[in-house]
Amino acid sequence: MAKLELAIIPQHVAIIMDGNGRWANKRGLPRTVGHSKGVEAVRETVRAAGEAGVKYLTLFAFSSENWRRPESEVNDLLGLLRRFIRRDLAELHRENVRIKIIGERENLRGDILPLLLEAEETTKFNTALTLVIAFNYGARNEIARAMAKLATQVEQGALKASDIDVEMISRNLDTAEIPDPELIIRTSGEERLSNFLLWQAAYSELVFIPDYWPDFDRRLFNHALEIFASRDRRFGGLSTKTAAVVG
Ligand code: FPP
Repeated sequence: MAKLELAIIPQHVAIIMDGNGRWANKRGLPRTVGHSKGVEAVRETVRAAGEAGVKYLTLFAFSSENWRRPESEVNDLLGLLRRFIRRDLAELHRENVRIKIIGERENLRGDILPLLLEAEETTKFNTALTLVIAFNYGARNEIARAMAKLATQVEQGALKASDIDVEMISRNLDTAEIPDPELIIRTSGEERLSNFLLWQAAYSELVFIPDYWPDFDRRLFNHALEIFASRDRRFGGLSTKTAAVVG
């Protein structure tokens, strides 16, 4: 396969994996088949990200709103995540992948959280790709928890409210030591963030791919990287392409 040659590779790519249900529906298959195929797309995407030189890949695996789905589908999604960790952990570890979990940890029952935390612990010294799994994750909840931590410090007199700044808020989010994603991809043609990384997405490039998640593969991942590389990122300043001729 031709090696991907791009001038700029994002350090951190985050993905909203959407469209498993519609992929299955289109084929007259149960939604659960769409989710299973989705796990294969996860495997290929992790490999593609590592090969492209991406350092952080965040996947929106289970949102804090996903609990509202029928119990059978919730169990199905949790089962797939559980199997992914059990079956793929050894290989991910061998490939020097570090796993990191973000999302609300309070009040979670069952074995899934301990399993995810064990994966985090096992791989914590790995130095290749960091695979960030957003589980029971909602960005507003993450921001509220960060605010509560800071408010507690203010209450205890350890912090002055006027000292709270953008950096301090970033350091108190679940993504504390993870750089903001330069690129956020969403599949299935939907064009919104759905409570994903709202704080961290301040300057992210958004790329919307029409294909459903189970069809996502290395080719589409690299295509998103190409779109990213062609964008002109200004961060509120002037384009580097026009700056030279202005003023
Ligand atoms: C969206 O499809 C996808 C999800 C809600 C979950 C994604 C989860 C996986 C791919 C499996 C487990 C994850 C990992 C990291 C191994 P949808 O059901 O919302 O599709 P629809 O909008 O077409 O109904």
